Amino acid sequence: MYFKFIAFLLLFAISQSRATGESCKTPNNKPGKCILLRECPLLHEIVANKTEAAKEFVRQSICGFQGLDSLVCCATSTSSNSSVNQDNKKTSNRHLFPDKRYCGYQHSDDYAHDTSNTTITEFPWLARIAYRRKSESEDSYQKQYLCLGSLINPLYILTAAGCTNTPNFVITEVRLGDYHIGNDTDCVSEDHIEECSDPARDYTLSKIIAHPGYDSKTSVNNIALLRINGRVSYSDYIRPVCLPFPGTKFANIGDTLTLSGWGYKNLKHEKAVIKKRVLGRLISAENCTEAYKDYSWFKLNDSHLCTKTVENSTELSCSGDLGAPVIFSHRLQWHQEGIVSFGESRCGDKLPDIHTKVKDFLEWIEENIEN
Ligand SMILES: *[C@@H]1O[C@H](CO)[C@@H](O)[C@H](O)[C@H]1NC(C)=O
Ligand SMILES: *[C@@H]1O[C@H](CO)[C@@H](O)[C@H](O)[C@H]1NC(C)=O
Ligand SMILES: *[C@@H]1O[C@H](CO)[C@@H](O)[C@H](O)[C@H]1NC(C)=O
Ligand SMILES: *[C@@H]1O[C@H](CO)[C@@H](O)[C@H](O)[C@H]1NC(C)=O
Ligand SMILES: *[C@@H]1O[C@H](CO)[C@@H](O)[C@H](O)[C@H]1NC(C)=O
Ligand SMILES: *[C@@H]1O[C@H](CO)[C@@H](O)[C@H](O)[C@H]1NC(C)=O
Ligand SMILES: *[C@@H]1O[C@H](CO)[C@@H](O)[C@H](O)[C@H]1NC(C)=O
Repeated sequence: MYFKFIAFLLLFAISQSRATGESCKTPNNKPGKCILLRECPLLHEIVANKTEAAKEFVRQSICGFQGLDSLVCCATSTSSNSSVNQDNKKTSNRHLFPDKRYCGYQHSDDYAHDTSNTTITEFPWLARIAYRRKSESEDSYQKQYLCLGSLINPLYILTAAGCTNTPNFVITEVRLGDYHIGNDTDCVSEDHIEECSDPARDYTLSKIIAHPGYDSKTSVNNIALLRINGRVSYSDYIRPVCLPFPGTKFANIGDTLTLSGWGYKNLKHEKAVIKKRVLGRLISAENCTEAYKDYSWFKLNDSHLCTKTVENSTELSCSGDLGAPVIFSHRLQWHQEGIVSFGESRCGDKLPDIHTKVKDFLEWIEENIEN
């Protein structure tokens, strides 16, 4: 919808084109800066309104082009008070996220393949988080991978806060581009064509930011960011997932979301050796609360999503998948709707899995990332 609208705007190319950052006047005669549409939260709100007047306003705001993207005249601080300024501040880090044209694509969606196993290019945003037991020395310890996360831009991994305050372990690094946990480089052959991945890459971290409101008992605010040392360069095996910014086509109750990871995959306590894929149907808050009625200490929060593993999923979502992304695709572009946050330790006992609803934390994410 959003893209259709933009395409529609493009038809109205304007004669007087400005460059990014130049001053301009908005259609209602306020001072502004000519910037990318996606960096102007004020206009996003207006686009969301979808009225003819709103379209006309946005159309009149166009002040130039950068490649295929339209630039709009975005009002800078207006006379009427701080709410506008706050809006701008809250979302001012939006530009640090991948352009919607580059996030959420996985090469394995480009061709037909057997879907019983994952392919080496599937879920390229999936990150494994490595830990050292606190009692072990920093110089020689046995790396243990206890949690998962997702790459959201070249600098940050999104995960669960529960992954950052483990009593006996400290996070040491993250691993991207992995497939078979025993091999650095993975090779698979399909139809007699062999494809090998680049070696998995390990990154140390410069910052761990857990949500200060995280409550381990209720799993509220179970979200954290890990900042990578250096910048990740993308490949077919390492790519960012999209975040659910305004304009995203969300899953409805009953739709199937995808979980992935290397946690336990069955009731025999076998850990997945190869990246696994688990399907979970989004269920309503009412049904989820009903399922947890015998656990009076647990209360579902509005900021939780609830999925139930679909009967014919070949693998289960279990312990070890904490922090993993819960994703949904629209036209083969994947965005992250949830972070596995709770319930996953109950592998197979038919209770739904509880996830942090990423949509509710976009502001927190934007406020806590830096360039
Ligand atoms: C959206 O449209 C309604 C009705 O026309 C208007 O009251 C409201 O202020 C608009 N919101 C924005 C953000 O423009
Ligand atoms: C600015 O905001 C403050 C507090 O939110 C409010 O009291 C004041 O009336 C506002 N001023 C204008 C000009 O809107
Ligand atoms: C899926 O992976 C398993 C374990 O590696 C292997 O035994 C099986 O043949 C694979 N299935 C297909 C269709 O490649
Ligand atoms: C991983 O390594 C094992 C043992 O070396 C080998 O049997 C297997 O085929 C490798 N798997 C992949 C996907 O490369
Ligand atoms: C809720 O549970 C009822 C009864 O099990 C079922 O019929 C219904 O489809 C469920 N609804 C959702 C939205 O999950
Ligand atoms: C969700 O959690 C927040 C923070 O603890 C709390 O303020 C809010 O009341 C909770 N909402 C529900 C519906 O439980
Ligand atoms: C699960 O079953 C449904 C309906 O029976 C089918 O459409 C779907 O493709 C199946 N999924 C898997 C992963 O087998």
